[in-house]
Amino acid sequence: MRKTLSLAVGLLIIASLVLAAGTALAAGTLTMGTNAEFPPFEYVEGDDVVGVDVEIAAEIAKDLGLDLVIENMAFDSVIPALVSGQIDIGVAAMTVKPERLNSVDFSNTYYNARQACIVRKDGKVADEETLAGAAIGVQNGTTGDYAAEEYSQTIERYAKALDAVLELAGGKLDAVIVDAPVAQNILDALGNDDLILLDNIAFEDEFYAVAVPKGKPDLVESINKTIDRITQDGTLDAILLKYFPATEGEE
Ligand code: ARG
Repeated sequence: MRKTLSLAVGLLIIASLVLAAGTALAAGTLTMGTNAEFPPFEYVEGDDVVGVDVEIAAEIAKDLGLDLVIENMAFDSVIPALVSGQIDIGVAAMTVKPERLNSVDFSNTYYNARQACIVRKDGKVADEETLAGAAIGVQNGTTGDYAAEEYSQTIERYAKALDAVLELAGGKLDAVIVDAPVAQNILDALGNDDLILLDNIAFEDEFYAVAVPKGKPDLVESINKTIDRITQDGTLDAILLKYFPATEGEE
């Protein structure tokens, strides 16, 4: 009787541990939330979400012995989805910001980026002075959005950075602020000679990391181990090389 009881209690404990780990983990999967509108970090190709972050997440899942599942959502939904337990990790070219650390934890960083400012060659913005007060387009809730607030109160917020750039090309905006590697990728894809990147605006360094729900130190530790491994064994370089044209060089 006692044995049955302790067995039952044991099973209950195991069951609650599994539940606490989150339904996705319990099912042998690692669910990554992202916003696949951010090439080359994450974008849709055919039916698939691909990109640098997807490959990094695949390495993390592999090391954990779990299958990677991708949930594509609005960028400003990624942190709420982590907090509510809908996803296990957020891998979305997400910059580590003090405000975000109030809601989620971050792994070690894996990429150094900056914002960039795209303008029309013949447009009214050419430097910090003329950026002040200009109509600036951004992706909603991104660090580009925060950076734009430093310069102007006329900010148009889009679900996709590409839509902002198209509005800029059409003359509806004066500038777009978005992460530099993505700005370059969009300009290369559009091939519109009228659009240029300004190189005279002082933006801060930003570091991308994997976002994790608060209170999961073991998960953060295994993600850090994977980041260390892929940094040391050349996997990360190979991933970056695959998605960045060789001419751009290293960050
Ligand atoms: N690095 C910027 C930020 O953290 C932009 C990230 C946008 N990511 C995306 N997948 N849309 O705010």
